[in-house]
Amino acid sequence: MQNVVIAGGTSGMGFATAKLLIAKGFNVVILGRDMEKLNQALKELGPNATGKSVDATNSEVLKQAMAEIGQIDHLVIALSGGKGMGRFADLNLNDLRQGFEGKFFPQLQMAQAVLPYITTTGSITFITSISPRSKAPGTAGLGAINGAIEIMVPTLAKELKPLRINAVAPGVINTTWWDFLPPEKKQETFNQYNQTIPLGRVGEPDDVAGLIATLIENTYITGQVIAVDGGLSLV
Ligand SMILES: NC(=O)c1ccc[n+]([C@@H]2O[C@H](COP(=O)([O-])OP(=O)(O)OC[C@H]3O[C@@H](n4cnc5c(N)ncnc54)[C@H](OP(=O)(O)O)[C@@H]3O)[C@@H](O)[C@H]2O)c1
Repeated sequence: MQNVVIAGGTSGMGFATAKLLIAKGFNVVILGRDMEKLNQALKELGPNATGKSVDATNSEVLKQAMAEIGQIDHLVIALSGGKGMGRFADLNLNDLRQGFEGKFFPQLQMAQAVLPYITTTGSITFITSISPRSKAPGTAGLGAINGAIEIMVPTLAKELKPLRINAVAPGVINTTWWDFLPPEKKQETFNQYNQTIPLGRVGEPDDVAGLIATLIENTYITGQVIAVDGGLSLV
């Protein structure tokens, strides 16, 4: 049975990916900071899931965690951040720095920490975002964070071959990432997106999980950033 580590696997797209991969016969190890969330997720996932409470901003903790897991066939990096949004004229650059510290560096640290243990014929899949392509006012900072990860993907694919390196770039997906908005504002925002998105709806975590599973299972795809956004990046 193949082992998949999902960093940020306790909620949202990472959790949906864990559920799908278990249904397909993989073992999963989910990582997240909040112990209560982790335990709840493990309860729902059942016996083919284990987990660790780690903070991916700490590279030493990540290295230790990977050493304890041992054999790893695939890594999915669903770690979030969230800071760095706002119109450029008012954008607080300290927030943007924290945005890089919350997503860009933890995702890279996670990928570095797994390298001594991951099967060379396995894969790493980053989750980035529509923001480098959306050109939506207020998202230049988020676009910089996610674009910085995306620009590394093809180079890493050549450098780390035959390990496969890809990224999925979600559009607007219904997860707890949006809980910075009050519930009625979140619903209003999603209602607006339902009108704008060419495929007529905000995405669900399962929409992204399906693409991640494909990138794990298809052994002939590497160096790609693939959008899963209902066409929002075309608007
Ligand atoms: N939802 C969207 O519309 C959307 C759109 C574009 C891109 N994205 C990106 O998609 C990815 C997945 O997000 P999601 O929407 O599924 O969000 P989510 O439900 O908030 O999931 C984020 C996961 O990452 C974990 N996490 C966050 N920081 C961590 C850290 N420092 N160390 C360890 N674990 C950490 C969280 O658990 P703990 O909080 O317990 O640590 C949770 O398991 C993120 O990179 C996000 O930026 C989301």
